[in-house]
Amino acid sequence: MLCRVRSSSVSSLQRYLVLSTAIFATAAAAAADAVVAFVGDPVRDARCFAKCYRQIAAEQPKCYSGCLNERWINKPGECPVGDLDSVASLDRPCLEQCNSDDFCHAEYKCCRHSCGITCQQPVGLANHRPGLPDVPNVVAVSDYGKALVVEWSAPFPGTSAGHVTYLVQERHHVGTAYVPERMTTWAMVTRTDRTREQFRQLHAPGRWFQFRVAAINENGTSGYSPPSEQFFVDIGPHVDPPGPPQDLTVSSLKWTNKEYQQCVLSWTPPAESVLPVRKYKVFISVRDGPHVYHKRNVVPADILRFTIKKLNSNSEYFLQVQAISEFGRKRFAGQKASTTLKTKGKKILNTKEITGIKIVVIGDPDSRNLINARLSWRPVTMTLKKFHYTLSWSSKDCNDESKPLRARTEVPYFDLFSLKPQCEYFIIISTTFNGSKYVGSFNFTPTVLKL
Ligand SMILES: *[C@@H]1O[C@H](CO)[C@@H](O)[C@H](O)[C@H]1NC(C)=O
Ligand SMILES: *[C@@H]1O[C@H](CO)[C@@H](O)[C@H](O)[C@H]1NC(C)=O
Repeated sequence: MLCRVRSSSVSSLQRYLVLSTAIFATAAAAAADAVVAFVGDPVRDARCFAKCYRQIAAEQPKCYSGCLNERWINKPGECPVGDLDSVASLDRPCLEQCNSDDFCHAEYKCCRHSCGITCQQPVGLANHRPGLPDVPNVVAVSDYGKALVVEWSAPFPGTSAGHVTYLVQERHHVGTAYVPERMTTWAMVTRTDRTREQFRQLHAPGRWFQFRVAAINENGTSGYSPPSEQFFVDIGPHVDPPGPPQDLTVSSLKWTNKEYQQCVLSWTPPAESVLPVRKYKVFISVRDGPHVYHKRNVVPADILRFTIKKLNSNSEYFLQVQAISEFGRKRFAGQKASTTLKTKGKKILNTKEITGIKIVVIGDPDSRNLINARLSWRPVTMTLKKFHYTLSWSSKDCNDESKPLRARTEVPYFDLFSLKPQCEYFIIISTTFNGSKYVGSFNFTPTVLKL
């Protein structure tokens, strides 16, 4: 929901741009093509709106596009001096970023300092300046049940600042207590000519809001008001849990080895969530004979996917995802979205025999009386492609290692070392080729023929 508030404020910004430009529809269309960089500079836009407000209707489009296209080189305020080089250097990169105020966004000015020339927030704006409207003050924020209403002060009636229009910004965070550090960055809510506006899209329970307002006339602005007192939108006795996650999809089902498959489960956030989603729970159930196995996993809110590993073949899985939101110590578990997954059946290979198996003792027994032997067999194929055989051997009842030994070979022979004489070894050779499994197995008891 955090995202929704932000996105709704973005969409209200877009709506505001549409509204303000709709008044001068042709100008806006022309301006949008000509000066793309200025779309999204609400201060410039509001200034041109104020400048052209008194024009007769027929002249407004021309005035507006002319204003947007003209260079705005003498923005109000002064460049900060002195402190520029002492403050965090990350803020003051050694750049040639601009060559006049016109290149800088909103109220920012193009300022030269010892290490380049960059766009900076002007200083000295808040002092009353002739030709600019005073800085407004947010005087009230109230909760009207379905909307937040924000009111601010108008310029003194005596001062003549021409037509004045206002930009309203908000910032917020979710939580039981106000924590200034958790506030979002300032986001544009609207431009309006009134000094009182209601915002339905910002009536979002469980959030702390602050507002600030800038008054703008044809010459620009004296800057934003101080932030309003933080205002909490009551969460009420009952909070709806998040809706079910959407577009639950299984993809990339594949074999990871001969035994298991894996897949990726993905989804999109719920359409409705009063509070922001903190995490998702993924539930995996599978029936295996008379038993049903369940597994649960937790996924952070920004991931939206989960790889399910070690899936059994030929099984039907029931998959569910649930969004969880939190407020203070309370948790709100949403409705689950669900889907099913049928894994692929095991590839059944027909089995063929490896033939021509021979084993011969090589050399003499070593100093510990252990024997080496070479095992060979008839090749399964003469193909030149990379191809290997798997071997395993274990001795049966010789107090030997209980684990069978394993090896791989790309040629149809293999040397076994350090075999115990008079022990029976069980040896298996296997490989797969052309859709068939090839196996050869036999017992071997090394003996040394004393001559
Ligand atoms: C804008 O600034 C100019 C130059 O300082 C001034 O003459 C004019 O009155 C100002 N406009 C308004 C509406 O105050
Ligand atoms: C692969 O198997 C098919 C049918 O099982 C057989 O017709 C074909 O000859 C085999 N190819 C090779 C290279 O053994």
